[in-house]
Formats: sequence, structure tokens, C-alpha cells
Amino acid sequence: MKSLETVPLSLTDYQPLSAGELFARTAAAKRALGDRVMVLGHNYQRDEVIEHADFRGDSLLLAKLAAERSERPYVIFCGVHFMAETADILSRSKQTVILPDMAAGCSMADMAAIEQVDQCWESLERILPVEETVTPVVYVNSAAVLKAFCGEHGGITCTSSNARAVIEWAWARREKILFFPDEHLGRNTANRMGLPRDQMIVWDPFLPNGGNSVEAIRKARLILWKGHCSVHQMFQPAHVDYFRKQHSDIKVIVHPECHEDVVNKADLVGSTEFIIKTVSAAPAGTAWAVGTELNLVNRLKRNQPDKRVFFLSSTVCQCATMFRIDAPHLCWAMENLAEGHVVNHIVVPDDDKAWAKIALDRMMAVS
Ligand code: 13P
Ligand code: SF4
Repeated sequence: MKSLETVPLSLTDYQPLSAGELFARTAAAKRALGDRVMVLGHNYQRDEVIEHADFRGDSLLLAKLAAERSERPYVIFCGVHFMAETADILSRSKQTVILPDMAAGCSMADMAAIEQVDQCWESLERILPVEETVTPVVYVNSAAVLKAFCGEHGGITCTSSNARAVIEWAWARREKILFFPDEHLGRNTANRMGLPRDQMIVWDPFLPNGGNSVEAIRKARLILWKGHCSVHQMFQPAHVDYFRKQHSDIKVIVHPECHEDVVNKADLVGSTEFIIKTVSAAPAGTAWAVGTELNLVNRLKRNQPDKRVFFLSSTVCQCATMFRIDAPHLCWAMENLAEGHVVNHIVVPDDDKAWAKIALDRMMAVS
């Protein structure tokens, strides 16, 4: 690396560059960094970004890679904020995690704030011995402080690929689960496990007792936080009906963040990695309607030309926050690093890190 005295390169200088220039400069800077840098890319990232990734995958796979490949001092995380935080929590202390655009958040993660979760816990405490009866389970699509809350209260994190195993783990320990922030992942998983509807309640953080009676809270085995993904909630059962009518042989495959009315009509449900693997392994000529983020589906279409791959809706857009990571931001972060400047360093405070790691480690042991 060059001198640390130089001035960081400015992002605005990268916006006018052509796609070809950005590709060549990013690749050259990455080559110069050699094995000091690892680029992780989530399955929803744009092509112009994912082509530079050393590894791509779903949230669980990327979290595992961050934990296992800690020998590289720098990780450029092409994904959203909570994923980069998870990498920082799981990586060795000397490893530096960089998110090319700090504004790459997640609308679902923003639907649960620590103050609201604390308040919910206190409300539950007034009704039952909460620490003995409720396990908090947080979807990794959440701020680090919420993962820390779970670590501290005997809880655990989960991803879309291990939610069932995590819920089984939690119910084996305590009678109830507080599942946040995605109502749909929790409900879809519990539906498949056969939990009766009258044992699930929804907790609206803006209402006293989450909008529930004391009896309903006492009876519930699953308390679902009222939160959702703004992308996946756009898929409708009518979209499934439309494709079934158009193509009698179609298979519908969706992400578990979709509403249960969509999931219940689908043939298969699973994480982004599950979706990619399933469609890729399917026989030539098969038809698939895919209900998840647009970039993933478009890439699947291009990479599987012997199959008929359709996006489940004509109105759903890509994840706007994932989309913020683009070629200029990646090139800017990579060239700065090659020049000795760390931009957009993700740092989870030590206290949160310690408890959050406990919740993540419990999940890793279950997965
Ligand atoms: P996966 O863990 O399935 O990749 O999902 C992450 C996500 O944010 C889906 O919207
Ligand atoms: Fe968050 Fe939804 Fe985007 Fe996934 S697709 S990162 S849940 S906003």
C-alpha cells in the first residue's frame, strides 16, 4: 500500500467514469491488494458489482465466510448494512469491514428499534416471567444492537435458511418466542411446523401490549413483530394464479419474506441460495416463476438459458438499498484501500459486539 498521508479519493470523481473504466480500475486495484482483501457479494447485488466478488451467497453463507476467512485483513462487503455489521461481529478483531455505500440499509431492519424492543420486553415482563418463558429470536436483517439484545436475554439470531432449526432450538428451551423484525418469515416457518393460528399473535410496537389482550399473550407460543420487507410484500397471490394459468407446467419458488398467502400457493420456499441452487439444478426446459429480488432473477434467467425463468411480478422493483452499491462506489472504496485509505469502515461497538456474537454463535451451532 502507498503512503497513508495522501488525501482520500473523492466519490464524485467516479460517477462520470464509463462502465469499462470502472471495471478495469476496480480489477486493477483489487489485483494490487492481492490477498489482503476479500470481496463478499450478496445474491441481490448488481452484475457490475457481483463480478468482482470472491464469494457470493445468501446471508448465512456470507456470515459463515466472514467468520471462516478471517485471515484477510480487509473485507469489502457488497450487500446491506446489517450484513456488513454481521461480518464485523464474526470476523477477527484485526479485520476491517468496508461497506461501499453507508446508505445501503434495509427497510425491514429499520422496523424494529432497540427502544421499541426494550419496551415490548418490559410489557411482557408485566404479564409473565419473561426471562424464563420467552426466547427472543432476531432475523439477521436487523441492527447489531438487536442481536446483542438477543445474546443478553438467552436468545439467538436466524436467517431465512435456518429459521426452522432456530425456532425448534428456541422452543426446546422456553415455551414462547418473540420473533422480530419480520412477521412473515416467522409466520411462514411456524405454519410449516404446524403451529395453530390461535397460538400466534402479532406485536404492533405502536400499540399498548402490542395490540393484544393479556389472555392472548399468555396463550401465544409465537409473538410476531409487525415488520416486513418492502420488496417481498409486493408479491401477491394473484401473481401466482396468473403464472399457473399461463403455463400449466410452471413451478413457483419464493422467498419466505413473502406474505403467507403467496407462500402457501408456491411450490417451493427458501433463501436466495436455495432458490438459485434449485432452479440451476432443475432439468432443461422446466419453467419457473421466481418471487424474490429482481437482480437475482434476471441473473438466473441469463445463467439458465435452457430453462424458462420468469419474475413473479411485473410491478415489483429491485431492492433499492442493495442497489445503492454500484460500480462507482465499489471502485471508489477499492482504489482508496489500495491507496491506504479505509472509507466507510463498519464498526460495531465492543459491548454490542460481544453479546451479538453470542447470539450469532448460537445460530451457527444450530445451522
Ligand atoms: P437471504 O438470506 O435469503 O439471502 O435473504 C436476505 C434478504 O435480505 C432477503 O430479502
Ligand atoms: Fe431488506 Fe427486503 Fe432489501 Fe432484503 S430485499 S435487504 S429484507 S429491504
